[in-house]
Amino acid sequence: MSEKITVSVIKADVGSVVGHSKPHPSMMDKCREVLADGLKQGTIDDFYVTRVGDDINLLMTHRKGENHKEIHGLAWNAFMEATKLAKKMKLYAAGQDLLTDAFSGNVKGAGPGSAEMEFVERGSEPMLFFMADKTEPSAYSLPLSRIFLDPFTTTGLVIDARAKKGFDVEIHDVKDSMKVTMSSPEETLSILSLLSDTTRYAIKRVTSRAGIGPAAVVSTDKLNLTAGKYVGKDDPVCICRSQSGLPAVGELTQPFMDTMIVGGWMRGSHHGAFYPCSVEASDPTYFDGPPRICCIGLHISNGKFQGTEPMNSKPGVHLPIDFFEGPEWDYVRSNSIKVSKMLRGHGPFMPATLSPDEMEYTSKPEVLKELTKRFERLD
Ligand code: 13P
Ligand code: 13P
Ligand code: MG
Ligand code: MG
Repeated sequence: MSEKITVSVIKADVGSVVGHSKPHPSMMDKCREVLADGLKQGTIDDFYVTRVGDDINLLMTHRKGENHKEIHGLAWNAFMEATKLAKKMKLYAAGQDLLTDAFSGNVKGAGPGSAEMEFVERGSEPMLFFMADKTEPSAYSLPLSRIFLDPFTTTGLVIDARAKKGFDVEIHDVKDSMKVTMSSPEETLSILSLLSDTTRYAIKRVTSRAGIGPAAVVSTDKLNLTAGKYVGKDDPVCICRSQSGLPAVGELTQPFMDTMIVGGWMRGSHHGAFYPCSVEASDPTYFDGPPRICCIGLHISNGKFQGTEPMNSKPGVHLPIDFFEGPEWDYVRSNSIKVSKMLRGHGPFMPATLSPDEMEYTSKPEVLKELTKRFERLD
């Protein structure tokens, strides 16, 4: 099949049960209903509705390309319908990520996050879908740098001739809405020089230099900048194709065995350590976290998702592999709690909290205003 297919993940937090914990199951069912309708209308070829923490993730396949009005419109409708239910139940932050009442054709700038890639389906197309809650897009920069730039992480960069050709990395300046594409391995150190500033730069896309097409894409919409005020963290997704000239599935998951400190967590204003877990275990139950990272695997097969569900089962019904569920991840979960607890020991002091201009909540301007007359110049 040489026709191009598109995999889109559009995600939003439109309300949750008891704080920022988990969408109500009826909200997920409503999204399934809306997407099943979209499938019937021929807008999409397949879908899978899942979540991480309080964020609903809509996985869709279709043939309309990236940024298509009908696809974004379908996702928007699903989130609007789910919001109605959340409001009816008076759930917390109902409609949190829907920043406008009037949908204008694309979810970008309207609140939800999106990661989409268009490609010609290979003979076998194994994909991983990373989904994070209580953190920001640049949280993926470290693991993706390890995966695509570091041969001590991805042995494939050394032993797979096509992976060895390297990768192009599109980096977004999320504050000034600028982008630049750089090439690895030649520019690896300069790429890292930018990405090390996680407050401004994030990887948007990684593309094979061996002609395989897109390898990874991240939702980089900076929600709090879009909204102009705090409405929640971005809670980004990252889609990766794998194997045969691209990093293997195991190479994609490996970096998450190291404990990584990311920005977000409670009130979007803290540092916490990534906690890899199953979708089922993704309710943020310790200080609204620690920031959860889930990873599910599905094939793209003739434009549809295929997991371990029976062949030709109903569209929308899938059984992905849940990569971070197993006991081998207990080690890093335990480290995550140790590191996160150590950070909590600092209370409201940095580095438990983010740098002042990254805090989603701050009372500092008010406090300074109250003190204007009391501050005295030092001699
Ligand atoms: P198999 O030999 O089990 O197919 O695995 C190959 C591979 O790429 C593992 O990363
Ligand atoms: P979310 O971004 O997941 O909605 O969390 C917001 C928050 O304030 C958590 O403490
Ligand atoms: Mg929330
Ligand atoms: Mg969330």
